[in-house]
Amino acid sequence: MLIAQITDLHLGATNGDPRESNESRLDRVLARLTSMRPRPDLLLLTGDLTENGSSSAYAALAERLAALDFPALLAVGNHDRRAAFRTHFPHVPVDGDFIHYVHDAGPLRIVVLDSLEEGRHGGSFCDRRAAWLKRRLDEAPDRPTIIVLHHPPIESGIGWMTIAPHAPWVTRLDEVLAGRSNVVAMLSGHLHRPMVSSWGGTIIAACPSTAPPLALELAPIDPAHPDGRPLVTADPPAYALHLWTGTRLLTHFETLGEHVPVARFDAQMQPVIDWLVNQPAGD
Ligand SMILES: [Fe+2]
Ligand SMILES: [Fe+2]
Repeated sequence: MLIAQITDLHLGATNGDPRESNESRLDRVLARLTSMRPRPDLLLLTGDLTENGSSSAYAALAERLAALDFPALLAVGNHDRRAAFRTHFPHVPVDGDFIHYVHDAGPLRIVVLDSLEEGRHGGSFCDRRAAWLKRRLDEAPDRPTIIVLHHPPIESGIGWMTIAPHAPWVTRLDEVLAGRSNVVAMLSGHLHRPMVSSWGGTIIAACPSTAPPLALELAPIDPAHPDGRPLVTADPPAYALHLWTGTRLLTHFETLGEHVPVARFDAQMQPVIDWLVNQPAGD
């Protein structure tokens, strides 16, 4: 099973380069996903779907997703607004205020969480959401399960875009997931960069964004003193592909940058490829 993931679309935002809107960056990624072989079986969208929760931005996304020939699962992020989201995605399950739900994806169980607190940049995971997640995980303690959410509950090392590792919402989430060896991965967005970490007995992978990514700047930042460092770059949009092998989830990250081949599988390379593929298993 092949699961594609895109995140942080920020539709409705204007970038520094007016020739490249977030809509066109998204379209480039969707064109790649719909033309690739093998085709994805499923698409995850992990929040910050819009820049400011505008109805027109959700409408633009709904139109694009309706044209796909594989299903899409949506999570909300801190830039989203639930009321407008629900208007344009009435088929997405809700639970009272929260947009969280379980999706059966063949061999996998996918649990989509809602880490949004409207008006707040960071994540949120209240007692009600924790109780819901516990109930849903208790339903199938042995099924391989993926947790999908916008905010990764980990520090990023990027000083202006990180999460307090001992925040109450992080601890609450950690407590629900403790000891659940069937949770094979947590897949998130929010960072606008690819990042992988161990956390809570599983791994967490943050997907790079389709909107402009964050600069990789790990030096401590003093919010009182601008130092001219890059914050956001014009690098190409990106996405993740998660391949479920039956026992593990393999995650690849890819950009829409120009991938110029320096070697191809042609007659010259055929002996090399043949040798590589037919290596005996190591002792
Ligand atoms: Fe974002
Ligand atoms: Fe975010």
